Amino acid sequence: MTAEPLEIHLTEPELARQLRRDVRLGLTARPKWLPPRWFYDARGSALFEEITRLPEYYPTRTERAILAAHAAEIARLTDAKTLIELGSGSSDKTRLLLDALYAGGGLGTFVPLDVSTSALARSTELIATDYPGVRVRGIVGDFSRHLDRLPAGGGRLVAFLGGTIGNLVPAERADFLRDMRAALAVGDWLLLGADLVKDPGLLVPAYDDAAGVTAEFNRNVLHVINRELGGDFDPAGFDHVAVWDAERRWIEMRLRARRAMRVRIRDLDLTVAFTDGEQVRTEISAKFRPADLPAELTAAGFVPRAGWTDPDRLFSVTLAQVGADQPARLAVREGE
Ligand code: SAH
Ligand code: AVI
Repeated sequence: MTAEPLEIHLTEPELARQLRRDVRLGLTARPKWLPPRWFYDARGSALFEEITRLPEYYPTRTERAILAAHAAEIARLTDAKTLIELGSGSSDKTRLLLDALYAGGGLGTFVPLDVSTSALARSTELIATDYPGVRVRGIVGDFSRHLDRLPAGGGRLVAFLGGTIGNLVPAERADFLRDMRAALAVGDWLLLGADLVKDPGLLVPAYDDAAGVTAEFNRNVLHVINRELGGDFDPAGFDHVAVWDAERRWIEMRLRARRAMRVRIRDLDLTVAFTDGEQVRTEISAKFRPADLPAELTAAGFVPRAGWTDPDRLFSVTLAQVGADQPARLAVREGE
């Protein structure tokens, strides 16, 4: 079976507009920053896949082990007919969920959503071939803007894996959970993979590997700006930095200028000055304490139903369900 043609909610001109806006905003701010979504062109998506296989990068293999151990239970609890995956990338680990739901015989549709057309084009074809009878509807979209475009209908399970929720800053994360709740119906399910707080001795190397793959992934955003906006960044002029912020409980990735320089971005008619050692924040990757996400999910109107971790408590997978709408508060009558 072949996948359905990709549904495009982010057109090329829209993407170009957003990239222009983000780069102008971020590189004229103090301190400078760039949003992480621009890492993921075809090269960035391939570099991310390489990261997932690095010895230092524990999240992918740990989440895979948790899913392998509990996918059957997730399928039994949710009995989902439609599996939606946000930030789906290669959807590789998702196959464990697909297998379990498929075995139950009830899975009708798989809907991966990602900003990366290249990743989606590949994953949808592979999955359509391997799961005959399942409709595969890939959506090119932004999980911070397009949750209202998800297919309607009962029995939905939305998977947001890999710890990508940690790449949202706390205010974006709260908006995301609220929008997710609004997009779902009572009884629908959300499965969240999230990385846990741990020893920085383990955390930092996961974001600063010996082979330098994460450094290349980080610098890829400069290649994207050069290609898409006519920038003249010298990516080798920036060092990769990964620091653990213990107070905010997140890893921050930055690019640090190796010398003072001026960078011209032709399409923005913008020249950006960097001082020697100046840093640009390119990503946060928040890490959670076990009770954090259940509390945030509850605040957003979900009911946490189950949670799993690995024996070393490195990573967590939380299953929550959209709760019944709050009953209207009874008015308190005078005299009572
Ligand atoms: N879920 C996969 C991939 C994680 S990498 C895993 O667990 O391994 C993060 C993925 O999210 C990438 O495929 C990237 O293209 C996508 N992504 C990043 N920002 C996004 C956004 N705002 N909207 C939709 N997809 C996004
Ligand atoms: C996609 N996301 C969960 C990854 C993470 O670990 O925050 C992205 C990444 N950045 C550096 N390495 C991997």
